[in-house]
Amino acid sequence: MNPVDAAVAHLKEYLPFLPEIGIVLGSGLGAFAEAVEDPTVIAYQDIPHWPASTAIGHAGKLVAGRIAGKRVAVLAGRAHLYEGYSPQQATFSVRALGQLGVGSLLLTNAAGGINPAYRPGDLVLLSDHINLQGSNPLAGPNNDAWGDRFPGMTFAYHPAYREIAQRCAAELGFVLQNGIYAGLLGPSYETPAEIRYLRSIGADLVGMSTVAEVIVAVHMRMKVLAISCVTNMAAGMLNQELHHQEVLDTGRQHAGRFEQLVRSIVANLHE
Ligand code: HPA
Repeated sequence: MNPVDAAVAHLKEYLPFLPEIGIVLGSGLGAFAEAVEDPTVIAYQDIPHWPASTAIGHAGKLVAGRIAGKRVAVLAGRAHLYEGYSPQQATFSVRALGQLGVGSLLLTNAAGGINPAYRPGDLVLLSDHINLQGSNPLAGPNNDAWGDRFPGMTFAYHPAYREIAQRCAAELGFVLQNGIYAGLLGPSYETPAEIRYLRSIGADLVGMSTVAEVIVAVHMRMKVLAISCVTNMAAGMLNQELHHQEVLDTGRQHAGRFEQLVRSIVANLHE
C-alpha cells in the first residue's frame, strides 16, 4: 500500500467522521486546535508514515471535530522543507487530507512583511505565491488518480473563498490585507538584499511554508485559502536583527483575531 493510503486507512479507522475542511495552523497559532468541539486527537507519531514536526512553536497532532458545525481536521504542526523533509514528505499531510475527502483547505502561516504598508500583526489574505523553495512537490512520476501531470495554478487561491474571507473580516471589523507570498526554503532568514530582490519581483510577504502544500492541494483539486500573520517586517526594513522568538511572540499576540477570522471563514465556507 502506498504510504498516503496507509495513513488514510489509519485515520478512517480512528475518526468518527470524514472531515470536509482541513485547517493547517502556522507558528504561534497552535492554540486554535483547542477550539475544536467534540475533538478526536491523533498524534502524528501514531499515524503511519506521517512526518513529525520538529519546529519550535509547532505541536504535532491532528484534531478532528467540529467548528461552527462544520466537520474539520485541524493540523497543529506541519513539516517544513527546511527540516530536511523531501517535498513529498512536507506535503504528506495535505495528500492524506485530500485522499480522506477534504475538499477545502485553509492554510495559515507566520510571514515577514515586505510590503511597506504592512505592520506586524496584520492579517494578509494570499492572492498568489512565488515558489522559490527550489523544489516542486509534484516532481517525479505523476499519480493520475491524485491529479493532473500539469495542474494550472491560475486560480490556486480560490477566488470565491477569498471573497468569503474578505466579507468575514469586514463583518468582524478587521482589516484583511491582500498579498503575494514568496515561499523560500529557509531556515536562515533572508538578507536585506534578498528582501529588496523579493520586493522587486512583486512579493508582499516572505515565509518558509505553504507553497508546496498549496501546489499539492490544487493538484488534488482542493479549494484553497491561505492567510498570513505578519509577525515581523522582513530583513533590512527595520534596522534590527530578526529572531524566531519575535515571530512566535507576535504570532501569539495576534492569535485571538486570527482565530476569530478563521472560525468565521469556516462557518461561511460552502462547496
Ligand atoms: N522570513 C521568512 N519566514 C518568516 C519570516 C521572515 O521574515 N517571518 C516569519 N516567517
